Amino acid sequence: MKKIVHKHPLAIRWFHWFNFPVLTCMIWSGLLIYWANDVYKIGWNNKTLIKFFPEDFYKALHIPYHLAEGMSWHFAFMWLFAINGLLYILFTIFSGQWRFLLPNKKSFREAWMVLLHDLHLSKYTPPQLKYNAAQRIAYTAIVIMGIGSLLTGLAIYKPVQFSRIAWLCGGYAAARAEHFILTIGYVLFFLIHIVQVIKTGWNNFQAMITGFEIIKPTVQKASHE
Ligand code: HEM
Repeated sequence: MKKIVHKHPLAIRWFHWFNFPVLTCMIWSGLLIYWANDVYKIGWNNKTLIKFFPEDFYKALHIPYHLAEGMSWHFAFMWLFAINGLLYILFTIFSGQWRFLLPNKKSFREAWMVLLHDLHLSKYTPPQLKYNAAQRIAYTAIVIMGIGSLLTGLAIYKPVQFSRIAWLCGGYAAARAEHFILTIGYVLFFLIHIVQVIKTGWNNFQAMITGFEIIKPTVQKASHE
């Protein structure tokens, strides 16, 4: 018989779905700021392999070249991003959900097996409790990245008032580059996350909305409550 089990607490679902539009707005407004001084590229000396970003990129996304507007949105939404992230971290600590999220000793070896399995290079199915090892690493990394974005963001927002944070980041220029790299990291995380969600299917996706997952009789899963 099919079983319905509780998978995601309401608070986690709220933090997760609230974060999505907020982060989208942070990236969008970040682009409106970055455009005004778009210095980053991959290349050496005068040779540019990839420019962040070519003119066509701004045109394709209809970036309106509004620096002041970008800054206003960015500095308003950063509060929502920070408060939501802080509440998420506090909730995972106090509810014990961190147990399903933090990687353990075996996670790095198992994550490799998850990768081989996902690429159809291995038939061995790695252990999947609430999250598999690759998810644990990715979800913990994204939280650390969030903290990194806040710290590097503060360092470039008020480099004098937060001079210690700027120093910790390696100075203003390094903090700005780190802030940018972290943003590219979110986009990459998001693309992989979406592919995985689509691959895993409807049951898994709807559980992030309803909180409940349907377990078929053949599949053995641990309860997460
Ligand atoms: C359309 C956008 C998104 C969709 C459809 C989506 C979907 C999902 C689903 C279905 C899960 C549960 C995975 C499972 O149970 O195996 C999940 C978990 C998670 N997602 Fe997303 N997600 C989206 C955007 C994002 C974004 C933008 C971030 C952060 C940058 C993010 C970070 C996370 C994290 C950290 C978890 C684990 C949450 C926990 O249990 O504490 N997601 N997502």
